[in-house]
This record gives sequence, C-alpha cells and structure tokens, in this order.
Amino acid sequence: MAKAMLLRKPTQAPLLLVNIRQLLTLASAALVPRRGRDLGDLGLIEDGAVLCVGGKIVSVGRTSDALSDSWIRRNRKRIREIDCRGKVVLSGFVDSHTHPAFTAPRLVDFERRIAGATYEQIADAGGGIHSSAEGVRKATRAALAGHVLDALNKMLAQGTTTVEAKSGYGLNLDAELKSLEAIGDAAGQWPGTVVPTLLGAHVVPGEYEGREDKYVRIVCKEMIPRAAEGKLARFVDVFCDRGAFSAASAEHVFLAAREHGLGVRAHVSQFSHCEIAPLLKYDPASLDHLDHVSDDDIAALAAQSVVSPAHQTVATLVPGANHFLGLGRFPDARRLIDSGVPVALATDYNPGTSPTASMPFVLSLACTHMKMTPAEAIAAATINGAHALRLAGRKGSIEPGKDADLVIFDVADYREVPYWVAGHHCAAVIAGGSS
Ligand code: NIG
Ligand code: FE
Repeated sequence: MAKAMLLRKPTQAPLLLVNIRQLLTLASAALVPRRGRDLGDLGLIEDGAVLCVGGKIVSVGRTSDALSDSWIRRNRKRIREIDCRGKVVLSGFVDSHTHPAFTAPRLVDFERRIAGATYEQIADAGGGIHSSAEGVRKATRAALAGHVLDALNKMLAQGTTTVEAKSGYGLNLDAELKSLEAIGDAAGQWPGTVVPTLLGAHVVPGEYEGREDKYVRIVCKEMIPRAAEGKLARFVDVFCDRGAFSAASAEHVFLAAREHGLGVRAHVSQFSHCEIAPLLKYDPASLDHLDHVSDDDIAALAAQSVVSPAHQTVATLVPGANHFLGLGRFPDARRLIDSGVPVALATDYNPGTSPTASMPFVLSLACTHMKMTPAEAIAAATINGAHALRLAGRKGSIEPGKDADLVIFDVADYREVPYWVAGHHCAAVIAGGSS
C-alpha cells in the first residue's frame, strides 16, 4: 500500500499549494448542511491554489492570481510550496462515525457469518459486541490507546483528518472511561482532530441481561456525569434497535447528556424500525445507519432541516456495514437526499460490522449501491460530516478561516476518488487543525 506523505501541522512556514488541476472548495453561502440539489455543488476551481498560514486556510483561488499576489511574491522564499500539477485537492475527509477503541478483530464472527449466521444471531449467542468487551476490559489504557492510534493513522493515510471516535466496548464505568481516556491519549499523538463520543449504551452487558433499565441508570447517573466532568467526551451516543436499547432508554440517555452539557447522536433503525420524531426533540447532531426509515421519519428529518436550520440533524449513512454484513441492501440515500434530508457518509470503522478505515472505499459503495453521484458522496464525506459533528465552522471545506486540513489525490478527476474501488490514490495529507 502506498504510504501517503504526511505533512505535519504546517505552523512553521506558510504553505502554498499551486497548479491544482481540480480544487474542490465545497464553499457554501451559509453555515448549514448541504441538502437536495446543493449536495453535489463542489465549488470546483480549475488550476487552483490554496495558501495556509499558521494551520489555517487564508486564501483560495486560481494559481495565476496567487502567484501575482503581492504578499505571496514578497514572502515567496519562506513559503513552502507544493506543486499539485495534474492532481485533485479536497478538504480532508470528516469521518463522523467510528468505533476505534477495541483490541482485536472478530474473526470467529466473520467465519460464522460466512457459514450463514446473521449478525443478530451471533450477538444473541454471546458473540458480537460482547466478545469485544472482554478484550477492552482487560486491556491497559496504553494498549488501548495504541490500537486507537493505529486506526487513526490508517484513516489519515486514506485522507481522513477529522474523526469522531466512540467508546462502547467497555460496557462498565471503568472500561468506558478508560476507552475515552485512550481515545484522548491517541488524539494527542495524532495530527488530525478527534471528537470523542461516549457510547456506554452500545448493548446491555451480559451481567445486566434482562435488566436494561438498571444498566441505563448506570449510563445516565455514572458514565455521563463522569465523562462530562472529565471533559472526556463531546457527544453521547446510544444504539437504539432490536437487541440493543429501546426508544425510551434512548430518551433517558439523551436527557442525561443534555443535563450534562453533552451533544447527542444515535445509531437508529439499523436492523429494525425505530421512530425518529421523538428523538429529534433532543437536537441530535446526527442519526446514523437508517436502513429502516419510514416515510414519516424522512418527513420529520426533512422538516427539521427547514424549521431549525441552526440545529439540523444529519442522516449519517454507513454503507461499509451493509457491505461487510452482506445484507444485500443499502440505506435509501436517494430517497433521503431527494426529500431534502442532509446526508453524510462515514466508515463506521469497527470490528463487527465495518472493519474499514477507508473513506474512499465508502464513497465507492455509496456511488455504486446507493446511487449517490461522486460529487454528492464527496460533499457527504466532508462538509456534511463536519455538520454531523457540529464542526462546520472549522472543518469540511476549503475556505478562508477554516483549519488547513487538505488531501491531495493523485488523480486527474475527482470522480476517480470513488471510481478506483479500494484504490489508494491519496498522495499527501495536510492536517493543520488542532484537536
Ligand atoms: O455501528 N450497531 C452498532 N454498533 C456497530 C457495530 C458494533 C460491533 O458489532 O462491534 C455498528 O454497526
Ligand atoms: Fe456504529
């Protein structure tokens, strides 16, 4: 695998990218997620240039204008210049849904599924998330941080500069806090930006079987307060589905998160339908998976985008999970987009349903199986991912004032990013923002 050149925080010298064949700015007139027809508007500049100073983007335009700019001419000697001739530059991917705090791949589950068992059957038999919990509970914080950092580096090599990272394989107070601390440790050693999320309510652990309410109390009364107090998480997530948590439990978790000043997001309708409207009251930044959404859910999501532009909930689709589980079906991205719901794409990197760190691969899946255009897929993986993390003021597009998070692809046309399935065309990554 070709290793992407990593340009560490470009704080020392100003950085100028020139001769960019296609510069995808994703510039927007307003700070709201892209929806409907606007999703595919890439703000493409041919023969583009980007100037970054102190880790921030300061100007964006055409190469000829950049080279005649008086400040650039005066400072040319101290500016680090990258010639991007023949290449495509986009904003670093924002992977807004990942689960990197685990210790081992789940190869037994993989083989069981190949032999015909479903994800839910494996989980019911004690495999699945439960089996990952054993490893995480035993691991030291340092070992776990090592696994998280490994995953972050794999993501970075494929063009991802911002990652939402969930706990969720500890399933008790100590192991969930340890997972968040490990995520924080890894984030401190990584040049990109990490947004930590507490997913204590991933599944009911074995020792609380049949006592969901008791476990939810621990999540609400112990995990959430401790995570908030220690500033270990920015969001709280809950897996609301058959075999995981009820909608009522999800509301308890959301309420507790809100009381402690944390944002909320949820896994919903992955295996069975869960009504979305009651959850929207809590202003979730994102609702994810959405394999089984109803017309009413779509209408509620779309209406919220119009009524409350500042607090839009993004629908984050994770087709890597559908692919790896061999479900033979994918979320109905077209119906969501065409109904006006803001859609993001993420890897859902995890050992059970989506062991991929590659956003370009997810883009390929989205184009082929969900009929998203390459332009829509890129916007969903950058600017809308940033909105799904409520970070769009800093991330997701190449505009003056935003963090200098850029990825250079060694392709002549942006459509090649999803076209080369499981390819590796990421030539360089600039992670300028701080975590
Ligand atoms: O997003 N659905 C819940 N959580 C993960 C799967 C976690 C696992 O199986 O380890 C997901 O698909
Ligand atoms: Fe997930």
